[in-house]
Amino acid sequence: SLANLALPVGTTLDRFIMRKQLAVPYATGELSQLLRDMALASKIINREINRAGLMDITGSAGSGNVQGETQQKLDVVANIRFIRALKNGGQTCAIISEEDDDIIHTGNLNARYVVAIDPLDGSSNIDVNVSIGTIFSIYRRITPVGTPATLADFLQGGDQQVAAGYILYGSSTILVLTTGDGVNGFTYDLSLGEYILSHPGLSQPPIGQIFSCNEGNVLDYPVSVQTYLQTCRQQRLTGRYIGSLVADFHRNLIKGGIYLYPPTVKTPNGKLRLLYECFPMAFIAEQAGGVATNGPIRLLDVAPDNLHQRSPLFIGSAEMIRQLNGSGDVG
Ligand code: AHG
Ligand code: MN
Ligand code: MN
Ligand code: MN
Repeated sequence: SLANLALPVGTTLDRFIMRKQLAVPYATGELSQLLRDMALASKIINREINRAGLMDITGSAGSGNVQGETQQKLDVVANIRFIRALKNGGQTCAIISEEDDDIIHTGNLNARYVVAIDPLDGSSNIDVNVSIGTIFSIYRRITPVGTPATLADFLQGGDQQVAAGYILYGSSTILVLTTGDGVNGFTYDLSLGEYILSHPGLSQPPIGQIFSCNEGNVLDYPVSVQTYLQTCRQQRLTGRYIGSLVADFHRNLIKGGIYLYPPTVKTPNGKLRLLYECFPMAFIAEQAGGVATNGPIRLLDVAPDNLHQRSPLFIGSAEMIRQLNGSGDVG
């Protein structure tokens, strides 16, 4: 049928989503609407980011979040925009965000989906005009429709994600999306105000030349990770680290590479957050043929017990993760 045809480069995100929906018998269009709401909010954020220096929205917001981080103004702005879009869109009953301690109830009791979000990833890069992003993860709720969502809806486990994606506000803006059926990238065409399919069927090269980690922490990494990084240097691989997970991940997805945020003595669980950073990225990585672990186990098999819990992350080209595992116990 028409719905199952592979869609060509140049297809708009809206049409892509509609075709996907037509391919699923009895699909109600609710997830489609939710994905369109995310895309809309990201266009608004894109606009704010592009004008940040002119609008007095750089710098610290003078507040903190539950992680003990200082919030940047754009962290707060992006958070408000996404929450508003998901409330108004009507398909999301509850949200968890890096920037809010507790579950945010949207008031849409009859909605079927919950969303976990990192509204603005790479905060330390905002004020220096370096790439930043947004990361999101979508689950179908397990609590009954008509009742308030609970913690259980968010702690289902990474394999229960129905969709995940990120937006990279980079040299161009790109939205990368999976609904469990491969990974597609849509570049934002500002003149049309539309995301356009530019990277269909993304697959991560099984081996690459790039390793990405915060070198400043290396002496605190597990010995096996230090050993692996030493072999990367001996092989004259390329070290690349932006400090925005979205940007580091995206580069490695396209070119082939490995990203590491290991545990350290000070931070035994690493830094990245499981529900709205690690899970969505792991889902996307696997859908593109890559691998994600927390060291000892497959990342998507980690059982969450807390909204804001952290996890070590090793993610990227399958063969490179295999080599890392070969250098010993990374847990
Ligand atoms: P966020 O800006 O959403 O708080 O995330 C920051 C994360 C991630 O984007 C990045 O890869 C990592 O922190 C960088 O951490 P280090 O500065 O410790 O390398
Ligand atoms: Mn933060
Ligand atoms: Mn982040
Ligand atoms: Mn963030």
